[in-house]
Amino acid sequence: MAEGGARVELRGVGVRYANGTADAVHAVDLTIDAGTFAVLLGPSGCGKSTLLRTINRLVEPTAGTVLIDGADARARPATELRREIGYVIQAVGLFPHYTVAENVAVVPRLLGWDEARIRERVDELLGLIRLDPERYRDRRPRELSGGEAQRVGVARALAARPRVLLMDEPFAAVDAIVRASLQDEIARVHRELRTTIVFVTHDVDEALRLADRIVVMNAGRVVQNGPPDDILERPADDFVRELVGVDAETRRLALERPLIER
Ligand SMILES: Nc1ncnc2c1ncn2[C@@H]1O[C@H](COP(=O)(O)OP(=O)(O)OP(=O)(O)O)[C@@H](O)[C@H]1O
Ligand SMILES: [Mg+2]
Repeated sequence: MAEGGARVELRGVGVRYANGTADAVHAVDLTIDAGTFAVLLGPSGCGKSTLLRTINRLVEPTAGTVLIDGADARARPATELRREIGYVIQAVGLFPHYTVAENVAVVPRLLGWDEARIRERVDELLGLIRLDPERYRDRRPRELSGGEAQRVGVARALAARPRVLLMDEPFAAVDAIVRASLQDEIARVHRELRTTIVFVTHDVDEALRLADRIVVMNAGRVVQNGPPDDILERPADDFVRELVGVDAETRRLALERPLIER
């Protein structure tokens, strides 16, 4: 399954919500190279979700431009764009009356794939996220654990081979053990597919564990953008230093002996 990622570029992207008195995001310039696992990290309300959603136009920027592989995201209808960009959120949002297979197949169906191709793709994806197709294909969401449902959400987002996958605190609602195993899964999926992933979290350890690049945000701005060891060893300012915290040395050592293969 050779699938590559797209480059995502934000140029001067700003967002002011209609009812807002201040900008939720201020003139962000950010390039995420094809195939990168980028993590947006920062405190609650700093604009992570807003910035993420400008990429698939769930939020329309009030300033600046989003480019996907050099093409303006506004050049095509937003609905079309969204079918090519996977999106996973904390509340998985599986359709309760659909089976697992039907949930995974939503976008391929919209794209008019034939049934045989859809069936094959569903089984391939269930295999990728380590859910036995025989056992899981025909279950309903209520017959899944939280972690399994989250995996199905990932499979659904990947169904039509998106070149960009957006994930907004996807593992925040599961317990620590399940979260660790989901982190392993997404790291492995990323190694296999090299999809560009933009992943939002406010969990520093999750960011360090998964990211090729960490983009630290504060109050609607990007305050640092670099590989995890840079963020730990050379925090750009006091805010970043405080965010990675007093445990920076422990975290740095943990990076040298990663729990997962990078
Ligand atoms: N639909 C909206 N309308 C108006 N203001 C909004 C809307 N969504 C978010 N905001 C505001 O924009 C700012 C950034 O919100 P955003 O959801 O992007 O933060 P976040 O970093 O994702 O926070 P969290 O970690 O809590 O999810 C906040 O001040 C928030 O109140
Ligand atoms: Mg958010």
